[in-house]
Amino acid sequence: MSIFNLKDLLDEGVSGRGVLVRSDLNVPLEDGTITDAGRITASVPTLKALVDAGAKVVVTAHLGRPKDGPDPQLSLAPVAAALGEQLGRHVQLAGDVVGTDALARAEGLTDGDILLLENIRFDPRETSKNDSERLALAKQLAELVWPGGAFVSDGFGVVHRKQASVYDVATLLPHYAGTLVADEISVLEQLTSSTERPYAVVLGGSKVSDKLGVIESLATKADSIVIGGGMCFTFLAAQGYSVGASLLEEEMIETCRRLLDTYHDVLRLPVDIVVTEKFDADSPPQTVAADEIPDGLMGLDIGPGSIKRFATLLSNARTIFWNGPMGVFEFPAYAAGTEGVAEAIVAATAKGAFSVVGGGDSAAAVRTLGISEGSFSHISTGGGASLEYLEGKTLPGIEVLGREQPSGGKS
Ligand code: 3PG
Repeated sequence: MSIFNLKDLLDEGVSGRGVLVRSDLNVPLEDGTITDAGRITASVPTLKALVDAGAKVVVTAHLGRPKDGPDPQLSLAPVAAALGEQLGRHVQLAGDVVGTDALARAEGLTDGDILLLENIRFDPRETSKNDSERLALAKQLAELVWPGGAFVSDGFGVVHRKQASVYDVATLLPHYAGTLVADEISVLEQLTSSTERPYAVVLGGSKVSDKLGVIESLATKADSIVIGGGMCFTFLAAQGYSVGASLLEEEMIETCRRLLDTYHDVLRLPVDIVVTEKFDADSPPQTVAADEIPDGLMGLDIGPGSIKRFATLLSNARTIFWNGPMGVFEFPAYAAGTEGVAEAIVAATAKGAFSVVGGGDSAAAVRTLGISEGSFSHISTGGGASLEYLEGKTLPGIEVLGREQPSGGKS
């Protein structure tokens, strides 16, 4: 599959041309303040290259999962301001998605201008399961850069979604992979094709159900899969242990039992757990053996024995993929597991291992804990997207980029 990239587009020349860019600017917000701008930073190189080359850039992105149309809490206004700061130029924000304001602003763009459309998910057609509804929105997006316009797919975090601004619009406009999408794919290709052994996978986060596909897929490729975070309790329950008031997916216990039976030589579980009475940053911690969690107490982190065990295993690894925190790292008293595993991966990377942090919460954890991003080989911006790629699934937003260019595109 051959995919045209940003360089191909720049070589064609973009000065004075409209270019629609799908970025993933879905950043965490607390009271309207961005708490982790990683995805904005990662989107800058593609946008800057286009702006510097004199394109009229129209950016579309989502924020959160609005339910019923426009929701002021999920406006991209703080994102437009942050993006403008990082780009060192004004980023206009349209008051709507593809309405009269977006149209007027797109028409008024001059070379090197940049316009951010309001949250694309304010339009329910974006996520519709109905192909013609999505296509109708995609046509309106394409019209913002027509005639002569192009589409650059740079939102790696959403390429696993078959949505109007990710998938359908690429069927209408000449399409190119942005630098972020191209870089992310080349790293994930390296993880799947030329994997140096031992290959260790570290999985955390709250739900086994989210990670089931990747566990099944990687269990035959990796030498070990370390399991921590909220999901470890369903595995501990599958071993017959009581997990107290810890997170538990009852309906997944049987599945976990089957995974433990089939892949017992690969799966590694914590040997101790940090428990407490309440889900509260100030609730005092206590370490117990993984098979002795008292009734009524909940596990919020892996214990020191587990950290040591996992760190030893990681110290020998040549390839590491990590997705999901080991505990509630946002509470300092329960951050040691995530920090310990992160430090072990950093140490292995310093010894030459190839390490990939798989987006979402683990990427946020790295930044929250103040660990330098350059200490890992790659930090992905896509949690779900990188997991689906590693599961071997077809990602609609990537597959469509490999198709023949629509008329007006490069053949
Ligand atoms: C993410 O946060 O993983 C991406 O931005 C995709 O968001 P979504 O899961 O709401 O589609």
